Amino acid sequence: MKIAVFSARSYDRTFLSQANERLGNQHELAFLEPRLEAKSATLAAGAPCVCAFVDDHLDAETLATLHDGGTRLVALRSAGYNNVDLAAARALGIVVARVPAYSPEAVAEHTVTLMLSLNRKIYRARDRVREGNFALDGLIGFNMQGRTVGIIGTGLIGLATARILAGFGCRLLASDPVHQPAFEALGGSYVEVPELLRESDIVTLHCPLTTTNHHLIDHATIAGMKRGAMLINTSRGGLIDTRAVINGLKSGAIGTLGLDVYEEEDGMFFSDQSNSMIQDDVFARLLTFPNVLVTGHQAFFTVEAMTSIAETTIRNVSTFEATGRPDHEVQAD
Ligand code: NAI
Repeated sequence: MKIAVFSARSYDRTFLSQANERLGNQHELAFLEPRLEAKSATLAAGAPCVCAFVDDHLDAETLATLHDGGTRLVALRSAGYNNVDLAAARALGIVVARVPAYSPEAVAEHTVTLMLSLNRKIYRARDRVREGNFALDGLIGFNMQGRTVGIIGTGLIGLATARILAGFGCRLLASDPVHQPAFEALGGSYVEVPELLRESDIVTLHCPLTTTNHHLIDHATIAGMKRGAMLINTSRGGLIDTRAVINGLKSGAIGTLGLDVYEEEDGMFFSDQSNSMIQDDVFARLLTFPNVLVTGHQAFFTVEAMTSIAETTIRNVSTFEATGRPDHEVQAD
């Protein structure tokens, strides 16, 4: 089957081509650099399958153009699918597939990397040492052992994060409508969100972005957090009201902030913008804080995860071609 791969970077070409070869070279891969949106969707004309990533925009207009060009399957090379209008896809008869669990450990390990880097101020220490400044003022951290971490969402990634933190000797709290016995087996306890926010030294978000939890962290929730707590988001940017968080940082309500995702990351992340001015003043303000660490949606980016994403994507397409249904179909709510 011909697959039009949008937002294709060098690493997408490498991992998808290798997976296609390993799995029998059944598909013709057409790599396209532009991100998928209404005006670029015509590039997929003649391709029954479109492969898209988190920064591609699959709204009703884009999907209608894809449909007119003969696309029947959207194979997302991501776990999240909040960038797809599922109702529009269903109305057009376009099937949507995703990669539900490629490597929860990749994201969990990056989450803990952000926690440790912020806590022990590794990025500041590196800069100081390179300048010959070996003073320790301002670099003090805290022991992870005995600290309380509140995990919002104990699915695959939240649970993998909990496993690592249990190894540090952290006290684990979580909030999730679904209770995982595996989390409780680690010694963790489920509590309501207000208690989690009140008790936690670190709050980390691992729930998907849905229509009901947009700006889950806003002025009100920040006011309910333990003063000076660390906030980490490696899930989806829209879970956090960035302006409210900036106010929280300024007032000291939030002690440190680690982000791998940002609510306005579309069109900015995943590309080299170093020769242009940042146009987003809210994002630019975030970068001025010494106690904020931002990475550009790279939590998933390990060799293991990329291999797994590519293989599951190719398998989704092969199964769809053979049976009319992919292995991992996204169902509209
Ligand atoms: P999952 O589906 O295994 O788990 C999500 C959990 O969140 C479920 O247990 C669900 O019950 C819970 N949940 C849903 N709404 C909630 C709410 N309002 N409050 C508390 N819990 C809630 O998903 P997985 O694989 O753990 O991924 C989580 C999220 O991580 C994805 O939705 C995606 O947005 C993000 N992600 C980020 C990546 C990155 O590179 N930064 C890579 C992969 C995923």
